[in-house]
Amino acid sequence: MSQRPFHLAWFISKGYGPKAWRLPWGGPNPASWVKPDLLVALTQSLERAAFDYVMIEDSSNIPYTYKNSHETYLRYAVDSPKLDPSVLAPFMIQATSRIGIITTLSTTEYHPYMLARLTNTLDHVSNGRSGWNLVTGSNDGGAQNYGLERQYPHDERYEMADEYVELVQKLWDSWEPDAMVLDRDREIFADPTKVHPVHFEGKYFRSRGPLAAPRSPQGHPVICQAGGSARGRTFAARWAETIISSANSIGAMKQFREDIRAQAKGFGRDPDTIKVLFLVAPIVDEYQDTANARKQARIDEANAHQEFYLAHMSRLTGIDFSKYDLDEKLPALTSNGHQTVAAQYSGRTPRDIIRAGRSIRDADLVGTPEHVAKQMCEIMQEVGGDGFLLTDPELTRRYIAEIVDGLVPELQKLGVARKQYQHVMLRDNLLEF
Ligand SMILES: Cc1cc2nc3c(=O)[nH]c(=O)nc-3n(C[C@H](O)[C@H](O)[C@H](O)COP(=O)(O)O)c2cc1C
Repeated sequence: MSQRPFHLAWFISKGYGPKAWRLPWGGPNPASWVKPDLLVALTQSLERAAFDYVMIEDSSNIPYTYKNSHETYLRYAVDSPKLDPSVLAPFMIQATSRIGIITTLSTTEYHPYMLARLTNTLDHVSNGRSGWNLVTGSNDGGAQNYGLERQYPHDERYEMADEYVELVQKLWDSWEPDAMVLDRDREIFADPTKVHPVHFEGKYFRSRGPLAAPRSPQGHPVICQAGGSARGRTFAARWAETIISSANSIGAMKQFREDIRAQAKGFGRDPDTIKVLFLVAPIVDEYQDTANARKQARIDEANAHQEFYLAHMSRLTGIDFSKYDLDEKLPALTSNGHQTVAAQYSGRTPRDIIRAGRSIRDADLVGTPEHVAKQMCEIMQEVGGDGFLLTDPELTRRYIAEIVDGLVPELQKLGVARKQYQHVMLRDNLLEF
């Protein structure tokens, strides 16, 4: 049976930071993480496999939620340190010509004008391949680095972000597409009647405009978002063109996508213009047995480093998990951080959460490339579309090769992954199917 193709993208978990620095296959020099080489190599490989985009995760603090201390975070490099993704992105852009590059930039850390200018510039230098992962920030420590006492309340962050995007889009639109005239004979660089101040006066943000730069190839760089809570979904359905989700069962994926599509219609949008990609971390190997053994090794590794995972869970939710017994079921958790994640943890034991990692409950994506490719097709058929966001937090060159040279050719054979790009710009590639 022929199946509609789906999109593939990559999530650079832990951003422009250390990856498998203490693990086998992590490479000869653990200090090399500060150089862009590994992530540039990743991006080039993904382009060879015609991925839609690579997304650079980010947060900009050394967390201290776990045990109220930086200690565990620094000792094991948990979710930190991270270099600035907007400096990494141009290296990736320069080394490629088709793949989209999405940079995470937080609305609580950037002024809208600065963000509009930066994303417009990235879109120019990439020939329209750039995107913005629109995050509001979630960790109090992050907010404190920018002079706030703590993060704004969860839902208010989305209210602020609504206004923020309105302003950013006005700035992106402040130059009409043909405003840059470049008429040498008449000595006219830009037509002043086609460049407009925005005079934006909102509840949270103000800006005069116009943007200091002409309209970029895509006009609006692609907006990526990951809100999973009720308020977050409404926000994503209003603005995002690609939504990334950590839904951890096939039922939850389907429900999430259907909800987004219904809400998008409510905003007068065509739901087919929004691509919802689901986070997965497949394990592929020569044989089913060896793949299973690698899965077990992942679990053993997690069990041997429980503090690492507890600290990570604490950072995401703002809840200090050192206070809970590893084998007791957690109560219903509330969070001013990632509400979806807090809801996913509720009622489970911390040990179980650590063990499960990023796996999907009802499809483990472990086996030969052929087996995993078939599983991915089945999941997509069940969910309805639109694709997957692959990741490995402990990224290695070996893993990149396994996915790009092992798994993707199997997906292509099944006719569900693109073999060649049809377009240059990111939005066009997202809308291809
Ligand atoms: C796959 C994925 C990637 C994310 N990447 C980032 C990121 O790079 N930086 C960040 O601050 N938040 C990131 N988030 C968090 C989201 O932006 C959002 O804060 C989170 O999903 C909680 O939203 P909710 O409370 O509406 O569920 C990510 C979430 C997911 C699921």
